[in-house]
Amino acid sequence: MRSGAYNRSDMLILGIESSCDETAAAVVDGELNVRSNVIASQEDLHAEYGGVVPEIASRAHVERILPVIRSALRDANSALADIDAIAVGSRPGLIGSLVVGVAAAKALAWALGKPLIGVDHVHAHLIAGALDAPKPNFPALGLVVSGGHTSIYHCDSFLSLTRLGATIDDAVGEAYDKVAAMLALPYPGGPRLDALAQQGDDRVHDFPISRLGADSLDFSYSGLKTAVLYAVRGVPQRKGAAAAFTRSHEDLTENEKADIAASFQRAAIGAVIFKLKRALASLPEPPRTLLVGGGVSANSRLRDQLTNFARDNTLDLRLPEIEYCLDNAAMIAAIGVHKLCAGQIDDLHLHAVPTTAH
Ligand code: KG4
Ligand code: ZN
Repeated sequence: MRSGAYNRSDMLILGIESSCDETAAAVVDGELNVRSNVIASQEDLHAEYGGVVPEIASRAHVERILPVIRSALRDANSALADIDAIAVGSRPGLIGSLVVGVAAAKALAWALGKPLIGVDHVHAHLIAGALDAPKPNFPALGLVVSGGHTSIYHCDSFLSLTRLGATIDDAVGEAYDKVAAMLALPYPGGPRLDALAQQGDDRVHDFPISRLGADSLDFSYSGLKTAVLYAVRGVPQRKGAAAAFTRSHEDLTENEKADIAASFQRAAIGAVIFKLKRALASLPEPPRTLLVGGGVSANSRLRDQLTNFARDNTLDLRLPEIEYCLDNAAMIAAIGVHKLCAGQIDDLHLHAVPTTAH
């Protein structure tokens, strides 16, 4: 788009994402069609540590950000001059990682004289199911299930969100990763635990589902995590740091591990569906759409159960393609489209912020 008022159909937004361990850039048009979506994963760099090492992540972002942006432009057959605005995930995330994307976005916006738009990464996960898809109707119920967040939203639009509930301790993806580590599955654990669970019997263990208060829409995964730890290693003889476990994961057969994975998954996903039902019942006006996003929305059991939940409640379910469930910059650019049209533009004082705006 060259000049005058913003017209969505010929708009092109460059999105940049660097909040955790993926360096990503994408070009998305004003109808939320993805013209390119480039993701450089750092999985190999962090695997030997069993989790993301912030300092390694920041350095890798610095090395990769410019090649990734160049690839995104090339894949979209676009030049920087064709881009109407630069959107960047500016919160929440690892601060040393966020600043790399934010600095790159600021530099491009300044050098090109184009608008700069800061985007909340958690909110952006909710738009993933609208990429390359028809526009959803509002109001919508929103669910973000990722490595850092487990939240339910009421959405009047993609820019008008009210958080109804969130985890009070671990995120569901974090619980997946920690349980996978207890079973000695390689990092990153979530997808591997999902695969192992499909070979197990989910009724062997009756792990707890935290309901919290009678009306609570919050989540808690720490009790479930501890229950799985005890199933793997036995109930410790002493509590606290000096806990002495009677067993190790090496004492479990492959079938027993699969049964633990399946039973954990029944409780972890059961908690999500339970809270969604409660959230739906709490709303004065029934939503028309269920927006879902975040890495755990790639989970096979969750996808099946969300499909049933949406069908039973006549909701238009927006389950993202797997590549858009995980961290990506297309979702950042898509929120950029909406913000640009609403005139919600930032200046060069945009900061990287480690927390979500809620
Ligand atoms: O959204 P995301 O890429 O990053 C954050 O914003 O956190 O989510 C990553 C999380 C990790 O915890 C990963 O283990 C989990 O999503 N995950 C899965 C699956 N695929 C990714 N968890 C369960 N089942 C999966 N298939
Ligand atoms: Zn994410």
